[in-house]
Amino acid sequence: MPSSPFFMMLCIAALTVALLAAAAPLSSRQISGDFQCNLNRLLIVTDLNDLQTTLSILSAKSCDASTNATIQGIQADIAGAQTAVNAILQALVNGQDAPGNARDQVAGNLTLAQAPLLSLNFTDPVTEANVIKAQTQFNNSVLAGNGVLQNCN
Ligand SMILES: *[C@@H]1O[C@H](CO)[C@@H](O)[C@H](O)[C@H]1NC(C)=O
Ligand SMILES: *[C@@H]1O[C@H](CO)[C@@H](O)[C@H](O)[C@H]1NC(C)=O
Ligand SMILES: *[C@@H]1O[C@H](CO)[C@@H](O)[C@H](O)[C@H]1NC(C)=O
Ligand SMILES: *[C@@H]1O[C@H](CO)[C@@H](O)[C@H](O)[C@H]1NC(C)=O
Repeated sequence: MPSSPFFMMLCIAALTVALLAAAAPLSSRQISGDFQCNLNRLLIVTDLNDLQTTLSILSAKSCDASTNATIQGIQADIAGAQTAVNAILQALVNGQDAPGNARDQVAGNLTLAQAPLLSLNFTDPVTEANVIKAQTQFNNSVLAGNGVLQNCN
């Protein structure tokens, strides 16, 4: 069953280990270690990147300045979360605990983004499908972010 979710997770895990090994020297604990931690570390980065891509598509499809302003606000919040995620990942790579202020900044920015993201509403079905996609990517980012905090210390 090559397409089973479990098989895909194994592939992602192998990719994660390869990426992390290439990116920075890690302690043996981190390399041998925690499958969930490595998976969540990869996912928080890819989910937020994917969300930014979808937001750019939505911005291009937006027909009024007010919707554009809403989307720009979401993009700025997600960019703030990405900056704070990078600070957390850097600390973990250095063998330190995730800094508390960076945790607050991830949570604070995602909280700011949530309501405007839920308020987006397009009549064009293709664009509306991208709204749902963005909301799914947002939810996945929250799950992955929580996973990093739970599994990577
Ligand atoms: C909304 O912003 C996008 C670029 O982000 C632009 O292409 C589009 O023309 C803007 N629409 C309006 C109505 O301002
Ligand atoms: C959003 O992120 C930026 C950069 O990481 C940070 O300076 C700001 O305080 C964060 N905002 C909230 C509400 O946490
Ligand atoms: C989107 O707008 C339509 C028409 O104004 C409305 O019926 C629908 O409830 C709105 N959906 C959301 C999620 O706000
Ligand atoms: C995202 O999560 C919220 C809160 O848990 C939920 O209400 C919403 O349906 C989810 N959206 C998608 C697209 O999965």
